[in-house]
Amino acid sequence: MNDKTHGYRRNLTNYGDSAFALYLRRSFVQSMGLSRTLMDRPIVGIAQTASGFNNCHRSVPELVEAVKRGVLAAGGLPLEFPTVSLGEVFLNPTSLMFRNLMSIDTEEMIRAQPMDAVVLVGGCDKTVPAQLMGAASADIPAIQLVTGPMLAMPFRGERLGACTDCRRFWAKFRAGEIDDAGIDEIEANLATTAGTCAVMGTASTMAALAETLGMSLPGTAAIPAVHADRLRAAEAAGTRAVAMIGKGPKPSEIITPKSVENAMRVLLALGGSTNAVVHLAAIAGRRGIALDLDRLNRISDETPVLVDLKPTGVNYFADFHAAGGMSALLWELRDQLHLDCMTVTGETLGERLSGPAPWVDRAVIRSRAEPFDPVGGLVALFGNLAPKGAILKRSAADSRLFEREGRAVVFESLEDLAARIDSPDLDVTPDDFLVLQNAGPCSPSGMPEAGYLPIPKKLARTGIKDMVRISDARMSGTAYGTVVLHVAPDAASGGLLAFVRNGDRIRLSVKDRRIELLVDDAEIAKRREGWKAPEFPARGYRRLYADQVLQADEGVDFRFLRGV
Ligand code: FES
Repeated sequence: MNDKTHGYRRNLTNYGDSAFALYLRRSFVQSMGLSRTLMDRPIVGIAQTASGFNNCHRSVPELVEAVKRGVLAAGGLPLEFPTVSLGEVFLNPTSLMFRNLMSIDTEEMIRAQPMDAVVLVGGCDKTVPAQLMGAASADIPAIQLVTGPMLAMPFRGERLGACTDCRRFWAKFRAGEIDDAGIDEIEANLATTAGTCAVMGTASTMAALAETLGMSLPGTAAIPAVHADRLRAAEAAGTRAVAMIGKGPKPSEIITPKSVENAMRVLLALGGSTNAVVHLAAIAGRRGIALDLDRLNRISDETPVLVDLKPTGVNYFADFHAAGGMSALLWELRDQLHLDCMTVTGETLGERLSGPAPWVDRAVIRSRAEPFDPVGGLVALFGNLAPKGAILKRSAADSRLFEREGRAVVFESLEDLAARIDSPDLDVTPDDFLVLQNAGPCSPSGMPEAGYLPIPKKLARTGIKDMVRISDARMSGTAYGTVVLHVAPDAASGGLLAFVRNGDRIRLSVKDRRIELLVDDAEIAKRREGWKAPEFPARGYRRLYADQVLQADEGVDFRFLRGV
């Protein structure tokens, strides 16, 4: 591998004299104390995302050391490099706004620096999609290594884990069932180990989809963050990355229409996060592949939910791993998957699944013959309110609310929602539809996880736990309820959602996949008069965001970053 195209010879700085550029680079490398033997090796870059602002990446430094061991043992030179890191709860207005920034950083640092392959170490919700998007665009051999889930820990006779339990206890607090001291104690016991959220939230979903796509080593998606196997997976990723140098496969050979469809199917079988639809559309988009929401509906109708994980079930992602994990799930789905898809191991998915049936705990991962739910967890809705689609997580919703018409109770913005939702004067009944506007990708709030509108306090206190809620926002993968999300086009781009008014009638039919505003066109035209798009800052990243961001159905990626 010690030739003119690998290691430090790659991507030379342009001085108009390549021999000089190499001589200068090597002399600067000497200052890092590397031996000539190591300097001549092919290089595996390691995208390093530890940050004081990202609790979910607390274990990244240890993982990076394990990756380095694997690279060195296999004859490569491991070099870590920092990128943007996105800690879900540390970013304002919302982490999604910066996912594309992280993907640009990842792509360009992979492309500009002299690395022959890369291991991407990430975990928290937006980091894995950002890294996969960057790697898909840079297109050198790449392996995704996730940090792994937190463990749910015992607390007073039950187990607690971020973050479905966070919401359950917060709802009790809002309903007056828990006092201030009680919620303080819960706060201290929800997230107690290294790793990503413990349930089938966005981080767990994206870890599972990265493995399904073929971008992670087999069986690694759900290894708990604190398990020694997580370090062995890191070492193996380093070893494998060296083997991929010069041979591939590259992301362009792995992320294909068929592997994207496999990922959609696994998402549905998991009852995974609604956010994953956005991220998968963005990852696929980098390879010029469109995510078809009609196709998602067809797959949803033929794919049962096979796992019993929170927020739709009772178990945690670490339980899923112990129950057989991704190998058991993929095995169960194998005759519905495209088995000719290539993976980072150099084997196809079919070759991976060609051995005997793996051990499985049927309490957590069911057979297709006895699923938890006969149909997939997510559906796309269409209609005049969402001509480019909206998403409902039916597996986490109350089916009694699926076929109905309701009166709109409208909140014009997140600020309006915060100001009025708990007002005793709010005109609202349990049969109404709560509507939130201006929380989509084209709004300055950047499509936050605000679609899980709280039940108005005066209804929560009477025991109401679910209502139909509609918005252009997202919802945390750890949340639940009859929540219509990702309405596209969004209100801030002039979609019909912007023109819903208090008292309008809306019809929801999950059976027919429809969501309709029952207001005539002449009235809508009147409401459109004088409408203005929201203002963004005149400079900086937010200006770029405002100019380039796409709708939810195109992954909220930037127009100029999508592949052709
Ligand atoms: Fe990082 Fe949930 S906050 S995975």
